[in-house]
Amino acid sequence: MNYKGVIFDLDGVICFTDQYHYLAWKEMADEIGIYFDEKINNRLRGVSRMASLDIILERSDKEYSTDEKETLASKKNEIYKKLLLKMTPDDLSDEVKETLDSLRADGYKLAIGSSSKNTKLILKQIGLEKYFDAISDGTNITHSKPHPEVFLKAAEYLGLKPEECLVVEDAVAGIDAAVAGGFESAGIGEAGSYEKTTYPLQSFSDLLKI
Ligand code: BG6
Ligand code: MG
Repeated sequence: MNYKGVIFDLDGVICFTDQYHYLAWKEMADEIGIYFDEKINNRLRGVSRMASLDIILERSDKEYSTDEKETLASKKNEIYKKLLLKMTPDDLSDEVKETLDSLRADGYKLAIGSSSKNTKLILKQIGLEKYFDAISDGTNITHSKPHPEVFLKAAEYLGLKPEECLVVEDAVAGIDAAVAGGFESAGIGEAGSYEKTTYPLQSFSDLLKI
């Protein structure tokens, strides 16, 4: 491929935390009596924690103060972090690991570009704590996807320009962020059928065919 670096989204690309997000939000929503299901959970993909909470609270008649929202978000995060502790290196598929190893052997710089503030914990759980050349995540940004900040920072940390990097995403919000930042993209899952995705992928290892 004609790039110097590859920037990977984490959740839904490198590993699958969807179900843990769902279970944690569901427990929080049940506690305050708000309806929440898998369909609403799908709208949270790639969206920051506080923006996710706002989507969940659309179903509520009550107006929540900023303080109350902070409390709810941290309650969800505590539940979520406990669930993340169940993850092990077995949650990293052979296909993903072998593709990453192959890209690395070919000399590409590899980075993470994720909205999650739990990125480092997740990478540690799946055994990739020290693997990437750069990590840009929810802890170093003020604007979440579809804003391009997380990818622009990742490129900067790699010492590369956006046009020298390929972004790999599963979420529409992530592809919009890539486009806004001047990046080409590869998409799996729902991003694979999105018209703004440069390279739709059937599976992760198709990256090696670009
Ligand atoms: C993204 C997920 O990677 O991170 C979203 O796709 C999630 O679903 C977001 O809301 C923020 O995650 P965290 O771990 O900071 O709550
Ligand atoms: Mg994702």
